[in-house]
Amino acid sequence: MVEFELNGRNVALDLPADMPLLWALRDVQGLTGTKFGCGLALCGACTVHLNGTAIRSCQTPISAVAGQRITTIEGIGDTDVGRAVQKAWLDESVVQCGYCQSGQIMSACSLLSQNAKPTDGDIDAAMSGNICRCGTYSRIRVAIHRAARGGGQA
Ligand code: FES
Ligand code: FES
Repeated sequence: MVEFELNGRNVALDLPADMPLLWALRDVQGLTGTKFGCGLALCGACTVHLNGTAIRSCQTPISAVAGQRITTIEGIGDTDVGRAVQKAWLDESVVQCGYCQSGQIMSACSLLSQNAKPTDGDIDAAMSGNICRCGTYSRIRVAIHRAARGGGQA
């Protein structure tokens, strides 16, 4: 039995210790906002937060989150930084197909939680593990700057 906090509520799941967290989120908890891309910690589609820091849930065994705090795209809007990032994403019309965007938003929120005014270089470094086949990178960078300013114009 693995007990942890998931989007602000306590859960206890009877699952194999080596099951990837991503499987538990999507197939057991029904939280399908977090996506499967590569399964190899290479694309970032599966990004969630472990105690506020971005991790790849496809390569995190469920046993590793025992007693920890997990936040997914379904819960990030309950935080100040999550609200600011989601609004900025809408204001800048970042999304194209959308498949990568849950992971992009979770990485952006992790960055802004640790660095309230990131430079372009900070953004590129923090977001480099999140792949977007639609090439939304420039809009993502603008949206992160917008969220860092509190939503105002450039
Ligand atoms: S699905 Fe986890 S990094 Fe690609
Ligand atoms: S918006 Fe399509 S993969 Fe990023």
